[in-house]
Amino acid sequence: MIIAPSLLAADFTRLTKEVERADKSGAEWLHLDIMDGHFVPNISFGPALVGQVRPLTKMFFDVHLMCSRPKILLEPFARAGADEMIIHVELGEAVTPLIWEIKKLGKKVGLAVNPPTNIALAEPYLAEIDLLLVMTVNPGFGGQEFIHECLPKIQQADEWRRERGHSYRLEVDGGIGNATVGECARVGADTFVAGTALFRQRNMKAAVAKMRKIADANDPSFADLKV
Ligand code: DX5
Ligand code: ZN
Repeated sequence: MIIAPSLLAADFTRLTKEVERADKSGAEWLHLDIMDGHFVPNISFGPALVGQVRPLTKMFFDVHLMCSRPKILLEPFARAGADEMIIHVELGEAVTPLIWEIKKLGKKVGLAVNPPTNIALAEPYLAEIDLLLVMTVNPGFGGQEFIHECLPKIQQADEWRRERGHSYRLEVDGGIGNATVGECARVGADTFVAGTALFRQRNMKAAVAKMRKIADANDPSFADLKV
């Protein structure tokens, strides 16, 4: 199980301290939400900020591109220190060349699916990606309520993975906290993005440990072992 605090929920007036807090929290990944004011109705931050944060931690940088034209951003984010770049399946025919481009840059490839989007749209790409992100809120803002209707999509993505021998990680993002992480883990999610539930806690280390404990307790592969 991987826990990925989302920097979007950090206190930006003390960003260095916030990154250090995440670094020492026991979480493996740092999730970086990039919003362009077009693909989503909000703007966050760009490659310059990611590049400034990069030397502060060795955490894996999981860059989530909620952007209409990610093509122009791949190289800048690769240079800024992204380890993985996630593009959205809603971009349609642009997806295949974007996957190639990310691979050419030597980075891991993620593919995200918004709540109203049919998970079947991701099917043609499953053999080529390192991570499938099932969004559990409509992207654009932190602090929204988890959409339970997304759970069957996670289950489907996990079934495809097991039946067809794929190796992509299965990530969830949006409204993830102690009340929702268990049900996501139970249907196959193994990578958990959480902004509000982790950065808005005084003790992030304790919050990560608690979240991990709930995720582990609901890990279906662990249940198999017990049989
Ligand atoms: C939503 C972003 C999320 C966001 C999650 O557009 O993709 O990564 O930061 O925030 P919480 O955990 O507060 O729902
Ligand atoms: Zn995100």
